[in-house]
Amino acid sequence: MTDMHSSLLEMSGIVKHFGGLTAVAGVDLELERGEVLAIVGDNGAGKSTLIKILTGVFAPDEGEIRMEGVPVRIGNRRDARALGIEAVYQSLALVDALDAAGNVFLGHELWRSFMGISLLDNARMAAEATRVLKENVGIELDNLSEPTIHLSGGQRQAVAIARAIYHADLKVLVMDEPTASLGPEETRNTLALIRGLKEQGMALIVISHNLDHVFAIADRVMVMRNGRCSGIRSTAEATKRDVLGLIVSEEGAAAA
Ligand SMILES: Nc1ncnc2c1ncn2[C@@H]1O[C@H](COP(=O)(O)OP(=O)(O)OP(=O)(O)O)[C@@H](O)[C@H]1O
Ligand SMILES: [Mg+2]
Repeated sequence: MTDMHSSLLEMSGIVKHFGGLTAVAGVDLELERGEVLAIVGDNGAGKSTLIKILTGVFAPDEGEIRMEGVPVRIGNRRDARALGIEAVYQSLALVDALDAAGNVFLGHELWRSFMGISLLDNARMAAEATRVLKENVGIELDNLSEPTIHLSGGQRQAVAIARAIYHADLKVLVMDEPTASLGPEETRNTLALIRGLKEQGMALIVISHNLDHVFAIADRVMVMRNGRCSGIRSTAEATKRDVLGLIVSEEGAAAA
């Protein structure tokens, strides 16, 4: 039974070692429905490791994950997907040679029957891909039939999100540094895309090194340092300086 009174997602006491190194040293994370939670922190703080545990890339050594109050086991990416948790990366698995529609429908192709023969229904896939990109992801691609290798980083990301939305009851979208290496316009588009998804009720976890972006999109920001959470702040109440203090050091946070 799902419990509507609990948070959408709770991770508690998460620990992950890589050999002698403790990448995540006992972290709790809560995500509400429709919330954008940012995770910030220095290189090596454990941000990507934490969300890779959520998306089934790594198994945690300790800790528990609950979706809508129910403990869940996420042993691989398929388990995560079945729970409605999906990660989208810029450097992600699109098939370069296929166009946007081909990627949105990869492995889920639509077919039509012509004189008893099954044929790919390219027209319907293109129309559906266009629709989901426009209605759910908020972008119109003028190069829909180009191989996706010719698309920009932001456009590729949008195609991957469209794929995730189309095929699953997506509840939690995870983005690891979605604006890294994007130009100014693409960055604006990606931030607008994140806000649009939130408006549709999606919950998102967004890792970023850019506090301007974090404050532009997130409801709350969780700071990680040396594998631990060094603080969680509401972006409506805290300043960038407060958050920077938590990133840099506990002493810095106290002084800020
Ligand atoms: N697959 C792995 N094998 C061994 N060590 C790893 C592995 N993945 C991450 N680590 C180590 O775990 C620690 C946390 O790494 P992680 O990638 O989670 O940091 P991060 O906060 O995402 O950093 P960045 O901001 O640079 O992306 C680092 O010391 C890293 O070297
Ligand atoms: Mg990382």
